[in-house]
Amino acid sequence: MQLSVIVNGQPRSAEVDPEALLVEALREGFQLTGTKVGCDTSQCGSCCVLVDGVSVKSCTLLAAQAEGREVTTVEGLADHGRLSALQQGFWDEFGLQCGFCTPGMLMSMSDLLSRNRHPDDHEIRSWLDGNLCRCTGYQNVVKAVQRAVKLVNSPVHIVADTPMKQFYEEQVQFLMDKDVDGLVSKHYHDDAVIVSHAGIARGRDQVRARFGTFLHWVTIEEVLSTDNFTETDNTLMFEATIKSSMGVVKTYDAMLLEAGRVKLQFTGSR
Ligand code: FES
Ligand code: FES
Repeated sequence: MQLSVIVNGQPRSAEVDPEALLVEALREGFQLTGTKVGCDTSQCGSCCVLVDGVSVKSCTLLAAQAEGREVTTVEGLADHGRLSALQQGFWDEFGLQCGFCTPGMLMSMSDLLSRNRHPDDHEIRSWLDGNLCRCTGYQNVVKAVQRAVKLVNSPVHIVADTPMKQFYEEQVQFLMDKDVDGLVSKHYHDDAVIVSHAGIARGRDQVRARFGTFLHWVTIEEVLSTDNFTETDNTLMFEATIKSSMGVVKTYDAMLLEAGRVKLQFTGSR
């Protein structure tokens, strides 16, 4: 039979046996071998994929039951080469299990995070019930999901575990909220100076006016990534890729702080 499904966002068709399981169609029909078969009793969870956004064991479904539906496999988690928050969490916390367990865990945890952005430890562990690791290496997986929870909920998708990262995260939150007064009074000295392509702004009134004009025209929708973040006790530098009402732009910032507030800032975009 001809099977047509949306796989990882793309319409795909393949010739499959009418009795084929979904996992077989994915692996053999679409060559998506990230989804694994780890048992023959529907217990291990290695074959987990999302069907219409819901995690299912793809060894328990006939391929024909997925006709016309949206299927997401582990190959579809990254976005144009950028790891999802969950994948990043697994990477950062060494949550990596064997090649059988990892894809299944990633898919069932993806489903959890799509339903609940703030799962607690108990919920994470209970969602892992359906993924059996024979070597019982769950501890780092739980830590990986906890890290992913922080990434998902941060406006800048970083774990704000240092003072400067917390400062940056708060700065972006002010900008997203268009709270110019809050931003300038909390983050800038009376005599702060900002240097950018728009010229030099000196002192809080000019800094406030600068941000006010910027936010009048531009709405920041999401910080897609933050790269090259470096900090000392009183400086921070980073590049960021920002999705805004004006499109996707790359920005760079360097700030000198004194007593937790900006004295001097260089900023620009390209
Ligand atoms: S292969 Fe599907 S649950 Fe084990
Ligand atoms: S990591 Fe796969 S069985 Fe334990």
